[in-house]
Amino acid sequence: MTDTRIIDASDPSDQNGIVDLAVGLLVEGEVVALPTETVYGLGADALNADAVAKIFTAKERPKFDPLIVHVGSYEQIDEVANVPDELREVIDKLMKAHWPGPLTLVLPKKECVPDIVTSGLPAVAVRMSAHPLMKAIVRKLGRPIAAPSANRFGRISPTSASAVEKELAGRIPMIIDGGACREGLESTIIRPEISADAGKKGVLIHVLRSGPVTKEMLQRFGKVVRVKKNRSEDAPEAPGQLASHYAPVTPLRLLSKPSEFKPEPGKKYALLSYCGSEKAGFMDLHEWVAVEQLSPGNGKLAEAAVRFFYVLRLLDEIGADEIIAEPVSETGLGVAMMDKLRRASVR
Ligand code: TXA
Ligand code: MG
Repeated sequence: MTDTRIIDASDPSDQNGIVDLAVGLLVEGEVVALPTETVYGLGADALNADAVAKIFTAKERPKFDPLIVHVGSYEQIDEVANVPDELREVIDKLMKAHWPGPLTLVLPKKECVPDIVTSGLPAVAVRMSAHPLMKAIVRKLGRPIAAPSANRFGRISPTSASAVEKELAGRIPMIIDGGACREGLESTIIRPEISADAGKKGVLIHVLRSGPVTKEMLQRFGKVVRVKKNRSEDAPEAPGQLASHYAPVTPLRLLSKPSEFKPEPGKKYALLSYCGSEKAGFMDLHEWVAVEQLSPGNGKLAEAAVRFFYVLRLLDEIGADEIIAEPVSETGLGVAMMDKLRRASVR
């Protein structure tokens, strides 16, 4: 057991001291849980293989699941990735439009990136976080930070420091509490490629994981295609994207319509509702032991995204036998949420 210090970063005048604390641990080859705008990450010096190994131990993460490397500037992408000449223009445009922000780019890796970071793949996933603390910490460290979401493997991603504490207390030395994450869903992961099949722009954008940067936002950079290879028997292109992911401990079932719900006598069911609307037909269906709404009233997708992992975690802690999930509108940000609900669903 490690004593886990939780550092409150709510007062901006403490920022420099907190950055120094985190950087001090990272320099020593330790791991630190850090806030980002998407979800909390568990960071280590990306170029120190022994430090990165501690991430896998703390998370009980299998070594086949590679990590995202966080940089502090546009230029730093060239420290970890070999950006092919033909992709330079589109990468520059994507960075200008979405960095810092929730977009991860998969590119051929530089030799200095240890194999443990990429699970031996020839590619590295890179992003630049918009969170002021994360940005300041990467810059002060002067080296890229490898950081997966700060949850135990296969569990719900943490969007607050208290959620990280539940997942990793006793396993890591420090959690920097930077408040609630403003996006609430993990970054969109893409692999851009030059291709003759990609129409006028000639750029094919493979979406490896849907997230806050939506298909609609990516379309102006090239032809967007979703990578669907995610059954566990296949080798997925984004190896962490296994079918059974983001799962609460309580079984969860995503239903497309209320008539699919056949409760078993004596079982306790909780409802994950999209907007709490009775019109959807789920609210009145049953005496739910608990109901949580993603975006009460009018189903705003950005609000639902911010609350998504928080609400899943709440329902998981209720002690229900099963969580029934209502579908979310599958456009924009809803694509990422439906993807996660499908992966979490046991059906
Ligand atoms: O928003 C985020 O992306 C958060 C914050 C902390 O930055 N990070 C995050 O990391 O969600 P993680 O480890 O939970 O998910 C990273 C996923 C891996 O599971 C894998 O699917 C994909 O990124 N990935 C990482 N490196 C890759 C690579 N070289 N090639 C393909 N996919 C990769
Ligand atoms: Mg994760």
